[in-house]
Amino acid sequence: MSVRAEELAEAVAALRRGEVIGLPTETVYGLAGDASNPEAIRRIYAIKGRPANHPVIVHLASADDVPRWAREYPPQAQALAARFWPGPLTLVLPRAAHVLPEVTGGQDTVALRVPAHPVAHAVLEAFGGGLAAPSANRYGRVSPTTAQHVREDLGADVAIVLDGGPSDVGLESTIVQCSDAGVRVLRPGRITAAEIAEVVGTASDTATGAADVPRVPGSVTSHYAPTTPVRLVDPESLSEAIAWARARGARVAVLTAGTAVSDAEVTGIDGSADPEVYGRGLYANLRQLDRAGASVILVVRPPEAPTWRAIHDRLTRAAAR
Ligand code: TXA
Ligand code: MG
Repeated sequence: MSVRAEELAEAVAALRRGEVIGLPTETVYGLAGDASNPEAIRRIYAIKGRPANHPVIVHLASADDVPRWAREYPPQAQALAARFWPGPLTLVLPRAAHVLPEVTGGQDTVALRVPAHPVAHAVLEAFGGGLAAPSANRYGRVSPTTAQHVREDLGADVAIVLDGGPSDVGLESTIVQCSDAGVRVLRPGRITAAEIAEVVGTASDTATGAADVPRVPGSVTSHYAPTTPVRLVDPESLSEAIAWARARGARVAVLTAGTAVSDAEVTGIDGSADPEVYGRGLYANLRQLDRAGASVILVVRPPEAPTWRAIHDRLTRAAAR
């Protein structure tokens, strides 16, 4: 899906004035502002209600722009960029001197991503600079994967939301840190640690490491949570869990991973047995189940396979409230 030329021009003009816009990307929708304008970054933090020491990702039109934002661009990072950009990969690199502390959260590194979505790309090309863009949700809530989600969440706080259709990946980008200490996956995403390792030799998956908690707000336990409590259940315990909840007067909503829910009294969604399809729909499905008026959302634990890693990560956080 693409946007009209006038809409694009209006969005770029707003960004130049230091305003923020809702921007479609292939992972999730972002709340984008000029990464070189401290006022725009402050606006992003204020709208999200996010603590100001949390760093944001800078989005670029091309990998050629990396040296403007990072003072080092190691060969391993270049190889990852060549393989996965434009796409759902974020590289954490030593920051260039001019990068605002509001962007880096005061750290010496900057997170960079070249998104693949044609609308995000068109905006970045026309804008010419870097766009800071965290996911366009209020802090701690489920990320938006449609323009409608952004409007529901942020309403009048964001005048322009470009509609690029539903996000294809549906989960936030894989974040990889490249430093002298090696290559580390800080946040799992569609691109798996194994795919990263294929390019760079080895990559440690430290996404669950407690040491990363202050650096990656996605690793704050309550992240990605709907309002209705979420409980993860094993497939073989689902009927028992439904019966248990019902016996206590609870209304139940269920998200499965490839099995139909045949109970007429249960609001059920089958998220699919295919991790790509499941990931694409996860946040929209959680939002829908959140509106079902249930007192608990039972999520059937998907298979333990590397292709489900990012989904497990988000589900575990959603259930941790
Ligand atoms: O897919 C995505 O990455 C989406 C779309 C909009 O591009 N953006 C996104 O942004 O998920 P956000 O702000 O919700 O999450 C960005 C993550 C945070 O967990 C943040 O801590 C981490 O990136 N991050 C940013 N800069 C970092 C840095 N210098 N070192 C380590 N982590 C960093
Ligand atoms: Mg986020």
